[in-house]
Amino acid sequence: MKLLKDKIRQDGKVLSEEVLKVDSFLNHQIDPVLMQEIGKEFAERFKEAGITKIVTIESSGIAPSVMAGLELGVPVIFARKRKSLTLVDHLYTASVHSFTKKETNEISVSKDYLTSEDTVLLIDDFLANGQAVLGLLDIVEQAGAQLAGVGIVIEKGFQSGGSIIRERGIRVESLAILTSLEVGQATFAEEVASR
Ligand code: G4P
Repeated sequence: MKLLKDKIRQDGKVLSEEVLKVDSFLNHQIDPVLMQEIGKEFAERFKEAGITKIVTIESSGIAPSVMAGLELGVPVIFARKRKSLTLVDHLYTASVHSFTKKETNEISVSKDYLTSEDTVLLIDDFLANGQAVLGLLDIVEQAGAQLAGVGIVIEKGFQSGGSIIRERGIRVESLAILTSLEVGQATFAEEVASR
C-alpha cells in the first residue's frame, strides 16, 4: 500500500535494526485519514470472505480495525490485556508473550460477542514474532468461529511471525512488509509481495 509506505518513509523513525517507531500516526497519535484508507484496503482485500466480526487486540489494533469494520459493516471486538471491572467471567482467554516487552499478558474476549456463527478477520498493527496473532487465533478456535484471515498494517518480514502464521495455511495480508531496518532507512518487500 503505497500511501502507508510513503508515510513510514516520511514519518517513521528507525530506532534500531529491530524496531520502527510510528508513534506519530499509528501507535500514539493517530492519522484518521490514513486509518480510513487502511480500513478501505483491508475491506477490499477481504470483501468476498463473508466476514461477520473483526477481532483485534488493544490498543493500537483498534484504530485500523474500526475503520475496516466501518467499511465492511461489521462490529469490532478488541481483546483486553487487563481485566475489566465489568468483564469478569464468561470469557475466552489466551496467554500472549511479548518478546519485545518481555512480559506475558492474559488476553480476554467475552463469549457474548464471539460465537461459532462468526467468520472472523483478525487485524493488528504490527506482526513481529506473531505471539499476539497466535493468542487471538486461540480465542477464535475456542469460540468455534471460522477464520477468514489476518490483516496486518506493518509486518516485520525479518522476524518469524509471518512465516509461523502462513505455515498454518492462514491467509495473511500485510499492507507494508519491512525486509530490513537500518538507521535512517526502512526497506520494503517488493510491491508484488506487499501489494
Ligand atoms: P508479536 O505479538 O508479533 O510477537 O510482537 P512482539 O511481542 O514482538 O510485540 C509486542 C508489542 O510491540 C506489540 O504492541 C507490537 O505491536 C509492538 N511492536 C513489535 N515490533 C514493533 C516495532 O518495530 N515498532 C513498534 N512501534 N511496535 C512494535 P503492544 O504491546 O500490543 O502495544 P499497543 O498495541 O498497546 O500499542
